[in-house]
Amino acid sequence: MTIKSVVIGCGTYLPERILTNKEISTFVDTSDEWIQERTGIKERHVAADDEKTSDLAVKAAQAALNDAGLKADDIDLIIVATTTPDLTFPATAAIVQAKLGVSEGAAFDIQAVCSGFIFALSTAEKFLASGQHKRALVIGAETFTRLLDWNDRATCVLFGDGAGAFVLEAQGGNSGQSRNQTSNQATNHHRGIIETYLRTDGRMVDLLYVDGGVSSTKTTGHVKMQGNKVFREAVTRISEAMVTVCEKANIPVTDIDWFVPHQANERIILGVVKKLSLRTEQVVSTIAHQGNTSAASIPLAYRAGLDDGRIKPGDLVLLEALGGGLTWAAALLRA
Ligand code: ACO
Repeated sequence: MTIKSVVIGCGTYLPERILTNKEISTFVDTSDEWIQERTGIKERHVAADDEKTSDLAVKAAQAALNDAGLKADDIDLIIVATTTPDLTFPATAAIVQAKLGVSEGAAFDIQAVCSGFIFALSTAEKFLASGQHKRALVIGAETFTRLLDWNDRATCVLFGDGAGAFVLEAQGGNSGQSRNQTSNQATNHHRGIIETYLRTDGRMVDLLYVDGGVSSTKTTGHVKMQGNKVFREAVTRISEAMVTVCEKANIPVTDIDWFVPHQANERIILGVVKKLSLRTEQVVSTIAHQGNTSAASIPLAYRAGLDDGRIKPGDLVLLEALGGGLTWAAALLRA
């Protein structure tokens, strides 16, 4: 039997401070009505000045480990998807590893902006499938509000901070004798990541980027976006990724139980739902209260789906994202 990567834990963290649309409208020319109508966002969380991306990541990781019933020592691979690292180097994953007290295996970052979590998930799945690693923490963590120009109403209303993490365990093959497997072998046989699909097209870098960087301006820069162009690309490319990943798995898109999208804009999500003949009740959405948390949004939404009892073991779940690069991706898994 091939080795499967099973999600055995999911944890999240959101900073305490909530920034409402109303509050944003006190310092930039916008309104709660405009933001809600165009994006579905009501409020977002903002990290405290002394909270770094690694702090958010560690809290999400600890919650995921608790959910899995594991200790940090049980982990031998950490991948952090982030666009907002603590430092230019080392990787935020190395800082997270130290803070968690993990001393085995490897830890590194992945940068695919809002698609980062699926890029990281797909990478971890391949590391586990190789048999070289047994249990991975895949974390999406962002202090994305630090990249915002708070005078630019076209971008500052969209984003928030947060973190989410999956614990992935290699099961099946000759490795991965797990607690879950012994307790529920029959179900676990079918659980895990089924397929992933990753794409990048760097020709569209101008649609969405940050106007600063170490080797160019030596500054961090701010988010620049041609929002309506990104919007148009998003529905097409996300739909394409979802159809492709399902075709690769030989599972019709309409067979999925839950759709857990990257939370960029409610209208993008509903456009995809319509295009693929899904039902709006299948969508797990957190956008109203979290905004776009970039690489963190998918595990944050996945946890919401677990918490309200929608996502149950054995359910077919489809994840998707699109972000700067452009990058876009989809993953199909059995919860
Ligand atoms: N409040 C009020 N008016 C605004 C605001 C605001 N916050 N922002 C823009 N406007 C105005 C514009 O100035 C424009 O005014 P004009 O007609 O007088 O010129 C008008 O609203 C329409 O602007 P559009 O940009 O065409 O508005 P649109 O309906 O496209 O909505 C939005 C903008 C929400 C940004 C949308 O385009 C979008 O969601 N795009 C995709 C975002 C996305 O998916 N990003 C990818 C992930 S992010 C990542 O990877 C980092």
